[in-house]
Amino acid sequence: MKTRLILLFLAVTTAAFASKDHPVIGLSLDTLKEERWQHDRDTFTGAAEKLGASVVVQSANSDDTRQVRDIQSLISRGVDVLVIVPHNGAAMTRAVKSANEAGIPVIAYDRLILNCNIDCYLTFDNVKVGEAQASYAVSHLPKERKARIVRIYGAPTDNNAKMFKQGQDNILDPLIKAGQIEVVHEDWALDWKPENAKKIMNAAITKAGHNIDAVVVSNDGTAGGAIQALLEEGLAGKVLVTGQDADLAACQRILRGTQAMTVYKPLKNLATLAARVAVEIARGEKPAATSTLDNGAKKVPSIFEKVISVDKDNLMSTVVADGFHTAEELK
Ligand code: BGC
Repeated sequence: MKTRLILLFLAVTTAAFASKDHPVIGLSLDTLKEERWQHDRDTFTGAAEKLGASVVVQSANSDDTRQVRDIQSLISRGVDVLVIVPHNGAAMTRAVKSANEAGIPVIAYDRLILNCNIDCYLTFDNVKVGEAQASYAVSHLPKERKARIVRIYGAPTDNNAKMFKQGQDNILDPLIKAGQIEVVHEDWALDWKPENAKKIMNAAITKAGHNIDAVVVSNDGTAGGAIQALLEEGLAGKVLVTGQDADLAACQRILRGTQAMTVYKPLKNLATLAARVAVEIARGEKPAATSTLDNGAKKVPSIFEKVISVDKDNLMSTVVADGFHTAEELK
């Protein structure tokens, strides 16, 4: 009996040490349909494996019920830490509560999860992304008359979409108030879908006609949808369009002139940082956060990575020099 107890004790302690040396990370993604999240998954997994961890990836296809189920299944598997990109920052609160009850730490990756106890939030400076988009548009708008713009925001369920808008508002609001800019149409693109952005752009053209100077769009996927609508009206390349993510298709459009700019977020910095923090948290260490952000329940230790505004003039010296895309791919 005594020997069996000692053996059991050894098995349990070995498993505990093994899990600290080789933690298992559960990565729950909203979607893999957009290009950026494939980069995030691949870089995160590669970096975590280099640190001796293994990663179990789940992708919810933009479905809250599925993402809650994914997270429950990662909890049942007994992962050491959860890294979550929520489809909906409010809907994932209950999944985080289950992780809390199971004693599994949670990192919100790129998008914040609201009103719950998460250990850490790792992201880019999302307000700066919005400011970069709006500043670029403003610096290219006509000054001799009131400029006419369309605004296409991201998914209303994504806290980041609100932060991008907040950054855009910081730049645009004073000019709108001063009568220098008129917003002729604005709307939110549900689930960040390009087809929804296209519909918004079609509605904008129906309402405001061809007399539009710029479309401030929050990411490259939805910029693609808006540009499709502009193409059909013979307006592509004549109306300035913004974006974000440096998606391959967007970089090609920048070189062709149908999209003016994107915001490059070096995903390898965020994904590598997240892998390191996940391993540290799994080993019981505290993340060395540089800021905090209130998620409604607590001031979450946070890190905000830097972003870079990119147009045709610096595409090669940023996105390509960084190895995100090759010059060959952009042709
Ligand atoms: C991300 C963007 C991305 C968008 C759509 C946002 O939360 O920060 O990089 O384009 O989601 O997936």
